[in-house]
Amino acid sequence: MTDQIIPSPIFSGPPVSRWRGPFPQLRRDTLGFLLHCQTYGDVVKLPMGLVRELLLRQRDATMYVLNHPADVKHVLVANQDNYRKAPVAPAESRIFGQGVLHTEGEMHHHRRRLLLPFFHGSHVTAYTDLITSKTQDLLGLWHDGTSIDIGQQMASVTLSVIWRLLFGREVGAEADTIRETIAVGQRLIKLQYDSLLATLIPLWVPTPTHRRLTRGLGAMESMIHRFIEERRASSHQSEDVLSLLLAATDMDGRQLRDEEIRDELMTFLLAGHETTANALTWTWFLLSQCRSVWERLTCELNEVVGDRLPTAADVPRLPYTKMVWNESLRLYPPAWTLHTRLARTQDHLPSGAILPSGAWVFISPWSLHRNARWFPDPNRFDPDRFSEGANRLRPPFSYIPFGAGGRRCLGESFAELEGLLILATIASKFRLRLVDGQAIQPEPVMTLRPDVPVQMIVQRVAIAESIPVHA
Ligand code: HEM
Repeated sequence: MTDQIIPSPIFSGPPVSRWRGPFPQLRRDTLGFLLHCQTYGDVVKLPMGLVRELLLRQRDATMYVLNHPADVKHVLVANQDNYRKAPVAPAESRIFGQGVLHTEGEMHHHRRRLLLPFFHGSHVTAYTDLITSKTQDLLGLWHDGTSIDIGQQMASVTLSVIWRLLFGREVGAEADTIRETIAVGQRLIKLQYDSLLATLIPLWVPTPTHRRLTRGLGAMESMIHRFIEERRASSHQSEDVLSLLLAATDMDGRQLRDEEIRDELMTFLLAGHETTANALTWTWFLLSQCRSVWERLTCELNEVVGDRLPTAADVPRLPYTKMVWNESLRLYPPAWTLHTRLARTQDHLPSGAILPSGAWVFISPWSLHRNARWFPDPNRFDPDRFSEGANRLRPPFSYIPFGAGGRRCLGESFAELEGLLILATIASKFRLRLVDGQAIQPEPVMTLRPDVPVQMIVQRVAIAESIPVHA
């Protein structure tokens, strides 16, 4: 048979390869391809190709991209029990194991109930001082006129914060290993989703990437196991996730095994700092492109925060800062796609489409957030889209940076508080300007990262300094 192009029958969809489905297009330009899919309608059908059908032993294995908020709500909330997460790439499974992000059913409910209180309500606001003091430590190292890699700086603050939350101690030299392991792991996971060949090469085959990943993971795991042992051996009680997990029991009332504790800690370490760091990096990038937004933001911060550090009580009094944050998460959602869901049984969607049993359902905040039906002129950075009035005009579930339903982000409140406090602490004291000549594009690995380091020049601002709009 030839690798011919066939148009997808029944539903509308772009032509895809008979053998390899949409994967060559996804590999070439994932983000562009998803936006292109929007032009085919609310539910876009992408046959996954004969190779995947053989491998999955699933006839007519097909991916359906949902572009309508009502369908998104149906799958993630109204009929969520009909969907489970699809199997993940081998590298993802190796890194995360069976943490709350990857478990299903009763086990998932149980873990969520255990962990949610830690990242909610007053528990979250208790971290305010930690977040602002870690940001201030960073600012102490910034000098007027110097150039910094803002992505690396944001990752360094968010890692030091999550490290304290998880292990109750300061992160040290291990930070570099963690950052490098995450970067290698992210690229390998994306490659495995896009290329069958990459999936078929087991991780024990010593390719340079596999070697770097297993070495980095080995170091992180030894560290985690050492922390577990030290904590068990000490009588010291600590208010961190490690203590919570050591005291926890599973559904049968037995204590969690070390491997289970490792999986949860690894999940929170990775899900809990890289996402927020990327959100902040994109926010600085967007702000550096739009002086009028920066000026409004600075005005608000001058008025509410002045020259002190922001507090949790300030956050509700910073509506424009929140609008900037929301708009940044719209344009560059760190979770650019949700985990693919698998339909357990046939399902009728509100848009009228019927998904067959075994359908692979693809929901992407990246493409939903850039749909001109809900966000006119979608590529423009415009925080006013998130004013109270504008929010009311949009259908629910057109904006889902944290997902929705029973698998909605566990760290949402924490991420928001952390993002806003870091933003407010820095923007009230510094201006950041993009170093000239950089072409920055989003790279969709596990999170949506800038494809090159984002270099920025920092400049201290005097309190209440007014910034000329057209300077
Ligand atoms: C801006 C920052 C963040 C964004 C955009 C984000 C986004 C998301 C999204 C979209 C999901 C749902 C995935 C799906 O349904 O397939 C998710 C799940 C999750 N997130 Fe976040 N996240 C962020 C920060 C955090 C933080 C700070 C933590 C922890 C401290 C965290 C922990 C988790 C966990 C544990 C899950 C799995 C929930 C479950 O399956 O029940 N996230 N996140």
